[in-house]
Amino acid sequence: MMTGEKYKESAVLKFEGREVELPVVVGTEGDKALDIKQLRASTGLVTIDPGFVNTASCCSQITYIDGDRGILRYRGIPIEELVKKSTFVDVAYLLVHGTLPTEQERLDFSCMLNLNSMIHEDMRHFFDHFPQGAHPMHILSTMINAMAAFYPNVDVNTTASNIEQSCARVISIVRTIAAFAYKKSIGEPIVYPRHDLSYCANFLNMMFDSPVQPYHISAETVRLLNVLFILHADHEQNCSTSAVRAIGSAQVNLYATISAGTSALSGPLHGGANQAVIEQLRMIHADGDIEKFIKMAKDKNNPFRLMGFGHRVYKAYDPRAAIIRKECENYLSRIGSNDPLLNVARRIEEIALNDSYFVDRCLYPNVDFYTGILYRAMGIPENMFTVMFALARLPGWVAHWKEMIGDETKIVRPRQLYVGRTLQEVGEELEGRASTFLL
Ligand code: CMC
Repeated sequence: MMTGEKYKESAVLKFEGREVELPVVVGTEGDKALDIKQLRASTGLVTIDPGFVNTASCCSQITYIDGDRGILRYRGIPIEELVKKSTFVDVAYLLVHGTLPTEQERLDFSCMLNLNSMIHEDMRHFFDHFPQGAHPMHILSTMINAMAAFYPNVDVNTTASNIEQSCARVISIVRTIAAFAYKKSIGEPIVYPRHDLSYCANFLNMMFDSPVQPYHISAETVRLLNVLFILHADHEQNCSTSAVRAIGSAQVNLYATISAGTSALSGPLHGGANQAVIEQLRMIHADGDIEKFIKMAKDKNNPFRLMGFGHRVYKAYDPRAAIIRKECENYLSRIGSNDPLLNVARRIEEIALNDSYFVDRCLYPNVDFYTGILYRAMGIPENMFTVMFALARLPGWVAHWKEMIGDETKIVRPRQLYVGRTLQEVGEELEGRASTFLL
């Protein structure tokens, strides 16, 4: 089992006159964790930690975040480096396999992604039966779950080469499903994947090419999509990745676990925030009174929150948001776009970063704050924003699933503290009902 270095220090818990020593585990970056694996057995106690705010659910070698210093690294490499020097396919390989690919490994991996990019023709008919206007995230999670019926060799106990192929297939095919779902939603014929295009170019082509108007693939748009996908590719034990690990711990097949991750991502507090940000910016722009919305966000009696602000882990500026803001400013000025939502976003950030409510709570723009504005400028429709997040997060989910099945993971089954009624008796009003089951 993968663990950190153990027993250099320990903590002592005093309880009911006894002392229990709890070992401290140290990670490779010096972070420390209390190992409570024997706590219940030795004391009868469980711990309560809603939202797992203080709980490391696993040890992992994939992604490192230092939320206080705004640091994010995949397999030890800072995202700033990866954005400059690699493509999304390189990063997918890095996350799933542990190192950046050699030239040959990159070719083999790209080839595998290409060979597994088509969906089974019978799956195409499913698209006909979703209602008009269905959100593409709902279509996506349903279609991913259906994949196990068409590609059955995905059990955790299958061969290593089946696992490799299933991992490549899910990373590649979900892109095709996403583009097909979009084409279907606008009533246009679907466009098949092409082997001569790179991962991101292929996606853009499937989204925007049409029989009457061939799509011109711009190198700059492809570069930007690579940047955005790299920045979203993994974020350690976030809600959707934790869902993947939890569902996967029951030895559910890969596609079902990825479908669960996709569903978790769709929520507005997680991946759905990028669409929610744009909707909110549009509302604030239409109203014109930015200060009013800042006041609402600070009002404890008002459920309104500034979407795209705050993060469970980052208590400094989200390093992804810093890169995306810069790319957004540059791209919009290069294409001569005067999107008023960018001005609204800039102004909100400026006010918030100088307001004690946000400063005291360390609330900064997160990855979603500027992403939507950039996607809009690239021509991506708003209801596809969270789908874009899902495509980008796939290598992360797959990497965590692989790490989890390679480890001696126990099935995820938390405890609870029961606070309901103590033993009750059935009241008189129910007596005799068992003989009238039809009622
Ligand atoms: N606007 C106003 N107040 C906020 C916000 C916000 N966006 N976020 C947090 N707060 C306040 C919150 O009310 C609380 O105040 P107090 O201490 O007075 O009760 C304090 O800050 C701490 O908030 P929390 O809800 O305990 O923090 P959390 O770690 O549980 O939640 C979060 C993190 C991201 C869910 C939250 O900041 C939020 O709802 N943000 C808006 C949604 C969003 O942008 N989500 C995308 C997250 S990044 C991408 C991803 O993970 O998918």
